[in-house]
Amino acid sequence: MVITFWALLLSSALVGVGASPVTAPKKPFSLNRRNDGWPYPLDEVDKLEEEAISKYEAYLAKQNTTRGCTLENSAKRLEWHDMTIAQREEYIRAVLCLQSKPPKADTASYPGVLSRYDDFVLTHETQAFHLHSTPHLFPGHRLYIWAYEKALREECGYTGWQPYWNWGRTAADPVNTPLFNGNMSSMGGQGAYVDYKGIAAAAFKPPYDYIPAGGGGGCVTDGPFKNMTVSLGPIGSVLPDGVVPKNPRSDGFGSNPRCLRRDVNKYASQVLFANFTGALIRNSPTIDKFQQDMLGIPEKNDWGVHMAGHYTIGGDPGGDFFSSPGDPLFWFHHGMVDRIWWIWQMQDPENRMNVLPSPPPADDVVDLNWVGVEPSNVWDLNDSIGGYGGKFCYIYV
Ligand SMILES: *[C@@H]1O[C@H](CO)[C@@H](O)[C@H](O)[C@H]1NC(C)=O
Ligand SMILES: *[C@@H]1O[C@H](CO)[C@@H](O)[C@H](O)[C@H]1NC(C)=O
Ligand SMILES: *[C@@H]1O[C@H](CO)[C@@H](O)[C@H](O)[C@H]1NC(C)=O
Ligand SMILES: *[C@@H]1O[C@H](CO)[C@@H](O)[C@H](O)[C@H]1NC(C)=O
Ligand SMILES: *[C@@H]1O[C@H](CO)[C@@H](O)[C@H](O)[C@H]1NC(C)=O
Repeated sequence: MVITFWALLLSSALVGVGASPVTAPKKPFSLNRRNDGWPYPLDEVDKLEEEAISKYEAYLAKQNTTRGCTLENSAKRLEWHDMTIAQREEYIRAVLCLQSKPPKADTASYPGVLSRYDDFVLTHETQAFHLHSTPHLFPGHRLYIWAYEKALREECGYTGWQPYWNWGRTAADPVNTPLFNGNMSSMGGQGAYVDYKGIAAAAFKPPYDYIPAGGGGGCVTDGPFKNMTVSLGPIGSVLPDGVVPKNPRSDGFGSNPRCLRRDVNKYASQVLFANFTGALIRNSPTIDKFQQDMLGIPEKNDWGVHMAGHYTIGGDPGGDFFSSPGDPLFWFHHGMVDRIWWIWQMQDPENRMNVLPSPPPADDVVDLNWVGVEPSNVWDLNDSIGGYGGKFCYIYV
């Protein structure tokens, strides 16, 4: 199938517990992030977050909707590079654990589901169009990441929170950063070399009409996921025919055990420097423009941070529109998407906390079936502080 992340750009173009009474003056909330400048000084996106937090705090103080969640007691999702080696290793152990647990999905109908981790992949594959259609990209993935984090904690004993990937920190040379360098405390490295041209980006003018191959594309041979078994799919592979074994079933849900393949790609990450993300946040007065620009701006030859992040990971299943959560880096990338949506919301909370692209009808529901969390009305997923019936209670630092 030739549906890639570019398809999103084309299709989206068609659519248009009460706070406790305050008794004493409260100390302003501080993100208290690691900001000692090593080795990453605050970038312009971090600064947009820092500058908005007091405005957001004032907004929250006036709401009835936070259901006991406050900035202080919220979970703090960390950037990978700000985590200690021990924290990274604990996270990696939890992911490997989830990949070793039995699935919940019906394996008679979906024999490709080999582990609990695959329940998440299957859900994304079967709901790919629903989860990516406007307006579900943001709220649907917000719930999806939260559910994954919950499974890591409750089913695999992880004590931290889902890390995110600040794209700007790796943009210049992703494969030589602690996220991608193949170290045992990284999320695994580059794939073995495959001879291919790259990924077509038909919506863009030359030379931006394809992303040149990044030097990988084959099996990941180092780091903690070198023995990982990918099974579901491929459904929308971006690698040339013959590289990835075909799934025995035409729908891609058959058992197809194979290695994790990556093409960690510096060309794709050219539009992931912090100034691109900063411009996206600053230049999007409406949620529709914010989503549209995130998905790419052909006139400016800007591939858009959402797709650029997916293709910086690339390979199989990372570059596969349907199966991308099968690469454990998916959650880092969509964590950053969720983070910048939140930072965008905080710039003007009175007008931005309660909007979604399109917008969806009042009765629109996201149901992540095999993932195993309660379905939710999309309109209860717009707030990470108190949304989802109060179960959402996290921020990014
Ligand atoms: C808070 O709740 C009260 C009583 O239910 C209601 O009158 C008020 O409009 C609510 N305020 C906000 C900001 O939702
Ligand atoms: C690789 O990881 C070890 C700990 O597992 C760490 O001490 C070392 O600095 C890391 N090296 C690189 C290049 O990230
Ligand atoms: C991969 O499997 C081999 C063979 O069982 C084993 O020796 C090695 O430690 C494993 N490596 C990782 C990172 O899981
Ligand atoms: C970001 O900075 C780079 C390098 O200075 C520049 O080429 C690019 O146009 C900038 N992007 C935006 C959106 O400002
Ligand atoms: C989310 O959006 C809906 C619809 O506008 C609104 O009713 C709800 O209050 C919003 N949540 C927050 C926290 O603003």
